[in-house]
Amino acid sequence: MNTLKDSFGRVHDYLRISLTDVCNFRCQYCIPDENVRFMPLSRLMMSDEIDVIAGVFVKMGVNKIRLTGGEPLIRKDAKDILLSLSKYPVELTLTTNGSVINEFISVFKEAGIKSVNVSLDTLNEKKFTEITRRNDFDKVFKNIQSLMDEGFHVKVNAVIMRGVNDDEIPDFIEWTKTQPVHVRFIEFMPFAGNQWNTEKVFSYHEMLDVISDKYGFIRMKDDANATAKKFKPYNHEGTFAVISTMSEPFCGSCNRMRLTADGKMKNCLFSKGEADILTALRRGEDIIPIIEQCLAVKAEALGGQFEGDYQKIDTSKISNRSMIEIGG
Ligand code: GTP
Ligand code: 5AD
Ligand code: SF4
Repeated sequence: MNTLKDSFGRVHDYLRISLTDVCNFRCQYCIPDENVRFMPLSRLMMSDEIDVIAGVFVKMGVNKIRLTGGEPLIRKDAKDILLSLSKYPVELTLTTNGSVINEFISVFKEAGIKSVNVSLDTLNEKKFTEITRRNDFDKVFKNIQSLMDEGFHVKVNAVIMRGVNDDEIPDFIEWTKTQPVHVRFIEFMPFAGNQWNTEKVFSYHEMLDVISDKYGFIRMKDDANATAKKFKPYNHEGTFAVISTMSEPFCGSCNRMRLTADGKMKNCLFSKGEADILTALRRGEDIIPIIEQCLAVKAEALGGQFEGDYQKIDTSKISNRSMIEIGG
């Protein structure tokens, strides 16, 4: 039975576990500063600790686990973690920057993974290097193709920032014409140190305007608890979707909980507070009441940190980690 209900009656059955705050890319909107210091290894959950904590969440009702980062696949024991979590009766999946997928295709299969989300904000090699400060466009693009060729369901996450990549929306749609790729355009969100401002947000409606100038499409039925509003261009192999956190938040149907790489539970992407699950586990304490208490204080929307018109957000009042320390 699922005991993971918050005070608004939302049942939480989806856990996102960050394996590391380290990444081999340096996207400005995610990492506050090029010389960022990562957490010492002793503070990270070890693979057996991840296994135990995940097992407790599964007993409490979790049926979907997504591994995130930083970049989850650069953790040395990523393979062991994937395989150990695969024993649980959950949909196991991950969000990755795609750079080392070629080393993991057989592991994904062995772990029963069916769907992978890959971050890719541009289809232009030069711009890729500007955004990520790394030179790996070809690798990532090839890896996405390999995943599709191997029969995985692939969602591509593109964070759209005005003046950076909003001009590429039609190119992404063009990609869906012949490939079964599921592109998700994401509204740019504010996190510690990511130089967010309202002008950079390219909104859901602006995206649809740009797309409808060139393409006909229909709205698809969204998955339960979905963050993304899905669309299918006529006669295209793939689909596109929009994640509209800023202009049309979807907190009413939220079913997500997060575990940071240092074992802190966040009840919301934007939550200020955190519950220290790892320290309790290391002390031999029961973590179930800590999980329940963390969920009991979940805010109705957006971590209780902002609401209403996103154009009026004062980022100096938002208290949160940077995206790389949360895991998305
Ligand atoms: P699915 O399980 O495929 O629905 O994936 P997802 O969209 O939950 O995960 P992914 O890691 O691919 O994240 C895509 C985008 O959605 C990122 O920008 C995330 O920050 C954002 N996102 C994921 N979960 C939440 C959430 O609970 N709330 C909000 N506001 N955004 C979220
Ligand atoms: N706003 C929206 N999405 C973001 N991501 C990272 N930072 C931001 C942000 N500021 C996305 C990444 C990745 C996912 C986990 O979160 O593109 O795909
Ligand atoms: Fe859930 Fe918080 Fe995301 Fe809203 S912002 S959908 S409450 S995690």
